[in-house]
Amino acid sequence: MQVIIKENYDEMSKEAAQIIRDAIHLKPNLVLGLATGSTPVGTYKELIRMYEEGELDFSKVVTFNLDEYVGLPPNHDQSYHYFMHDKLFNHININPANVHIPSGIAKDFAKYCQWYEDEIKKAGGIDLQVLGIGSDGHIGFNEPGTSLASRTSLVTLTEETIRDNSRFFEKEEDVPRFAITMGVGTIMEAKCCLLLANGEKKADPVSVLVEGPITSQVTASALQMHPNAIVIVDKAAASKLKRVDYYKWAYENRPRF
Ligand code: GLP
Repeated sequence: MQVIIKENYDEMSKEAAQIIRDAIHLKPNLVLGLATGSTPVGTYKELIRMYEEGELDFSKVVTFNLDEYVGLPPNHDQSYHYFMHDKLFNHININPANVHIPSGIAKDFAKYCQWYEDEIKKAGGIDLQVLGIGSDGHIGFNEPGTSLASRTSLVTLTEETIRDNSRFFEKEEDVPRFAITMGVGTIMEAKCCLLLANGEKKADPVSVLVEGPITSQVTASALQMHPNAIVIVDKAAASKLKRVDYYKWAYENRPRF
């Protein structure tokens, strides 16, 4: 696991966008996994800037989003469909046929989840998966206790997640109780995972993700077993890490050959 500690949110976002840009330059038809939440918004802004300045072409990029609330139609302003179009897709030259976001209104969820998994496989697997982390350590919506081998499925959100995400809704009762999410096992098959975290609220889950035991109680900790995981954090999110000096040293002296 490569841990990159940045001064602040802006620096974190720029670093993440550069990694995504370099990956698209290397492979214009990159299969890019995307996340929602406030954390990646700065990265998406930076990607839009790169596109506007002619540095990036998304025309061949294929995307798969991690998750969606159950019960919210795509045009609902709190759906992750709406979020992704608002924060990224409406501002770049992505081909709409290449965009995949789980449906929160599928009729048969078991069948739908299998279809989503099959689509990822058909696309050749995810090359680079962007991730945030919940305050309870979840990736996607894989809440504490989820099998670290889980696949795309319908899940029940924790009360903590419902509380955290209620800031986007008028009232807490409006937050859906269920979601459809790529599983931890699905995420672990991405060739590279890029997890972003900022702010003090993420310091505890980040400390377990990077330095704690691998546990289904903090599903992000599964990334310790990933052969190519990059974790970019700001200073506040890194504040409970014990080996900060080494992470900084290893980043400054990373092999460039
Ligand atoms: C939601 C999403 C996660 C995201 C998390 C953190 O629960 N399902 O994918 O990582 O929120 O959100 P934020 O970035 O707003 O802290």
